[in-house]
Amino acid sequence: MSPPKPRRYSVRSRVLVTGGAGFIGSHLCERLLQAGCDVLCVDNFFTGTKDNIAHLVGQPHFEVLRHDVTFPLYVEVDEIYNLACPAAPVHYQFDPVQTTKTSVHGAINMLGLAKRVKAKILQASTSEVYGDPQVHPQVESYWGHVNPIGLRSCYDEGKRCAETLFFDYHRQHKVRVKVARIFNTYGPRMHPNDGRVVSNFIVQALKGEPITIYGDGSQTRSFCYVDDMVDALVRLMGAPDDFTGPVNLGNPAECTIRALAEEVLRLTRSRSKIVRRKLPGDDPRQRQPDIALARKSLGWTPSTRLEAGLKKAIAYFRTQVESRP
Ligand SMILES: NC(=O)c1ccc[n+]([C@@H]2O[C@H](COP(=O)([O-])OP(=O)(O)OC[C@H]3O[C@@H](n4cnc5c(N)ncnc54)[C@H](O)[C@@H]3O)[C@@H](O)[C@H]2O)c1
Repeated sequence: MSPPKPRRYSVRSRVLVTGGAGFIGSHLCERLLQAGCDVLCVDNFFTGTKDNIAHLVGQPHFEVLRHDVTFPLYVEVDEIYNLACPAAPVHYQFDPVQTTKTSVHGAINMLGLAKRVKAKILQASTSEVYGDPQVHPQVESYWGHVNPIGLRSCYDEGKRCAETLFFDYHRQHKVRVKVARIFNTYGPRMHPNDGRVVSNFIVQALKGEPITIYGDGSQTRSFCYVDDMVDALVRLMGAPDDFTGPVNLGNPAECTIRALAEEVLRLTRSRSKIVRRKLPGDDPRQRQPDIALARKSLGWTPSTRLEAGLKKAIAYFRTQVESRP
C-alpha cells in the first residue's frame, strides 16, 4: 500500500474538531482551514481558551460552539476529530469523574453522531494506554500495563475504554474510525500552568524560578512538535478506510528529563537552578513510540528537531509570561 499524500480538499469538507480551543486542537483547526475545510470547533473551555482560536474567529469558514461532549450533539459534518479531554495530570485529576465521562460519554456521543451522519471519526488516544510499559519502545500490538485504580486511571482507563468503543462501533455499526495514540506533544499554546514537563521547564526558566525535576531526571520522554503531530492527524484521517489504527504518533527521539531541563536553560539563557522532588506514583520510567506503522502506512515521520521546536515554544511562553507576570 503506497502512503497517502497530504490532503487537498476540492469540495469543502465540513469538519468537527472537539477540543478545538485546546493546544493541539487550535493548531488542527488552523491547518484544516488552510486546507479549505469548513471547521466547527466545539469546546467547553475547561482547559482550552478563546485566545487560542482568537485569530481564527471571524474567518468565514470557522465556527465555534461552546458545548460539553458528555452531552449529545446534533450537527451535520463529514469528519470528526475527537480531541476533547484534558490532557495534563493537574487538569484531568481536578475532576476525575468528569475526565472519565469526557472520554467515555464523549466517545459514545461523537460515535453516535458519526454513525447518524455517516462521518469518519478520529480519536485522539494516548500513549498512556500503555501505562507503565514493560516493552520498549511501545508498539501498537502491546496491550499495556495500566493501574485501573490509581490517580492517573481516570485518564488512562477512560482513553482505553474510548478505544474499545471506537472499535465496537466500527465492527458493529461499520463506522469509519481512526485511532491515534498520541505521545508527548509540545509547542505554542500549551497551557502555561498545566504542569507538563516542557511548559513547566520553560515557564520556570523564563521566570528565573528553580526548575523542578521529579526523581533523578534519568527517566526519558520523547517530544513531538505540534506541527508534526497535526500533519500526522490529517494524514491519518485521509488514509484509506481499512486503515483504522491504532497507530502511534510521536517523535521517537528520546531525551532524559535532565537533558531537557539543561537544553531549556541553554535556549532561554536562564540562570535558574535545577532542583529535585520526589517522583509521583505511577510515573512511567520510559516513554518512546515505535512509529514504524505510521511511517509505512501514513508516509509520516516527524521532522522538527527538539531545539527548533523548543525555540518556537519559548517565544510563545515569553509573550505569556510577559503579559501575565
Ligand atoms: N498534548 C499531548 O502531549 C497529548 C498526548 C496524548 C494525547 N493527547 C490527547 O490529545 C487531545 C488534545 O490534547 P491537548 O494537549 O491539546 O489538551 P488541551 O487540554 O489543551 O485540549 C483539550 C481541549 O478539550 C476541551 N475539553 C475538555 N473536556 C471537554 C468536554 N467535556 N467537552 C468539550 N470540550 C472539552 C478543553 O477545554 C480543551 O480545549 C486530548 O484528547 C489528549 O488526551 C495529547
